[in-house]
Amino acid sequence: MLSYNIKISGERWEEDYQQFLNRNLDCLRRVQEGQAKYADSQDWLDTRICAGKDVLNRILDKAGEIRENADTFVLIGVGGSNNAARSVVEAIAPRREGVDPEIIYAGNTLNPTQLKKILSKLENRSCYIECIAKNFETLEPGSSFRILRELMDKKYGKKAHERIITCGTVGSSLDRLSREQGYDFFDFPSKVGGRFTAMTNVGFLPMAVAGIDIQSLVAGAHMMQMLLHAKRGKDNMAYQYACLRNLCYQKNYQVEMLSSFEPRFRFFYKWWTQLFAESEGKDNRGILPVTGEFSEELHSIGQFIQEGMPMLFETFLDVKEADDSLMIHADGLPDAFDYLDEKDFADINRAAFDATVQAHAERLPVSILQLDRLDAYGFGQLFYFFQFACYISCEMMGVNPFNQPGVEAYKKRMFQILEEK
Ligand code: PA5
Repeated sequence: MLSYNIKISGERWEEDYQQFLNRNLDCLRRVQEGQAKYADSQDWLDTRICAGKDVLNRILDKAGEIRENADTFVLIGVGGSNNAARSVVEAIAPRREGVDPEIIYAGNTLNPTQLKKILSKLENRSCYIECIAKNFETLEPGSSFRILRELMDKKYGKKAHERIITCGTVGSSLDRLSREQGYDFFDFPSKVGGRFTAMTNVGFLPMAVAGIDIQSLVAGAHMMQMLLHAKRGKDNMAYQYACLRNLCYQKNYQVEMLSSFEPRFRFFYKWWTQLFAESEGKDNRGILPVTGEFSEELHSIGQFIQEGMPMLFETFLDVKEADDSLMIHADGLPDAFDYLDEKDFADINRAAFDATVQAHAERLPVSILQLDRLDAYGFGQLFYFFQFACYISCEMMGVNPFNQPGVEAYKKRMFQILEEK
């Protein structure tokens, strides 16, 4: 079970935090009940709506077909349309040779070199592609899908459509195109915004193709849903996390660093960054989300954390049970690392984690989110926890969590430039 622990010291902090917890319970209640003004964006609040049995069964059937017939699956999507799947697949997919297809990501860049690399990789592969795009207006997936459709036509001719899958809003141009061309179409839930779609069709198919247990993932999210809806007071851990974030913000700590000693969180970091940056960063408000991959980045950003401008607060993402072990044996050579003889890397990593928490907590507000283990069930808990906490946090900050008007600014100019050319 996910747990949350706050390490703030000093009487003033403790007192302010308690007051903050007492004062904002209305925000928790509004999120638990859901709000009419966000009725078109809240279906993710109840996992039963978009991740019920029928949804999972259809996904599992299709994933079974793909696993049977392909060694490669290309996920074409950007932002909320690929971040959740990529974070789970890249962290815990089993990747058994000859059993689990490789997942390749396209549609998240406009860089030709990157796309050409993918095309050449696919030359001798047996593949399926899936284009995921809510309204099918985003340039990155739209342009990559064209290139990859062409490749599929060359490879599979009249049968190409059997290996092309799409996920979009019912009634969108992607839906129409799919019906015309005979692509298998999955609906992108209309009442869930991209970055809140981890527990929907959007995240499921690539994960299931990679061999992730999506039923367990949903079970983890559902358990977290039950917990966060049942706890209506100060002991609600998503509420505690949201309160600490907003208290830090009020005290001028405007940057949150999500840190971990588990490198497999690399792509989860991208999911988390998108969730908080796009949800909170508006109306001249918001906490800037940044991430720390430790211990590597203790040798760079670590200096800033310990002695630089005090603008950061830190949330550690910890995994209690190490799922691997590697012993360092004594070899009798004078390398001055004798203190490591017969020690396990898992314990050394744990020592580095404990020491870092202690050192950073002396200087900045620190809290720890701890998962029992890194598996599908744990990821389900994390997705639900952060989405729920983000909604509460936006409520406290007074911003709409579900829109992202700011991203239109560069798009308008880009379309203008492209049309001029
Ligand atoms: O959270 C959101 O809604 C956005 O960040 C989208 O996920 C992102 O822009 C991709 O959009 P689409 O799925 O329409 O291509």
